[in-house]
Amino acid sequence: MTTADRPLVLLASSRADGHTAELAWAAFPGLADCIVDVAALRIGYFAYDDANAGDDFLGLIERSLDHPLWVLATPLYWYTMSAQAKTFIDRLSDLLDARKDLGRRLRGKALGVLCTGSDPAQPSHFEEPIFLTAAYLGMRYLGCHYVQRLEGVPMSAAARAASRDFGIRLWAQVSRAPASRGQPDASA
Ligand SMILES: Cc1cc2nc3c(=O)[nH]c(=O)nc-3n(C[C@H](O)[C@H](O)[C@H](O)COP(=O)(O)O)c2cc1C
Repeated sequence: MTTADRPLVLLASSRADGHTAELAWAAFPGLADCIVDVAALRIGYFAYDDANAGDDFLGLIERSLDHPLWVLATPLYWYTMSAQAKTFIDRLSDLLDARKDLGRRLRGKALGVLCTGSDPAQPSHFEEPIFLTAAYLGMRYLGCHYVQRLEGVPMSAAARAASRDFGIRLWAQVSRAPASRGQPDASA
């Protein structure tokens, strides 16, 4: 499989092995090398003077652009996306100016979201900044899957199955490959 045959999950949590990582695994089993731990990278805040241009952000983007589907995986921290997810989104601004060549390649790319939180549902406003950003950048927003998680309580089989279904549905909207190779599952 090439990167063009697979989604890319941008794991934007403060725990590399926490609830959000587990959700990413449930949605896209067997795709460990397509999950990027954004928190482990050196990605600075957006700066008007491009002061952070030499950090890991542009390398991440260059590596991500061949994937037709990006999935932003974030916990809820204080009723919104994580700081890592927001910083990643802020830094997409770099692609509107200094690196327009990369920014143009976002057009038509698909974007989905995975989210965990301890509340029964995500806040009503949660998706708005994400789908507005996607629209601004010309990306196709495909929706969000939210899973409630409480500390110490394992992810239920039903939640795993629903997450896997979401992953399959997302990929189905992106993949134009024949049915026999349309599933992004390394075990297939
Ligand atoms: C700093 C912090 C803020 C949180 N804020 C919320 C919140 O506003 N709403 C909610 O439902 N859960 C909230 N939670 C719970 C987490 O979203 C939940 O435990 C999530 O599954 C953690 O994912 P992680 O293991 O990837 O960090 C918060 C947790 C932390 C540590």
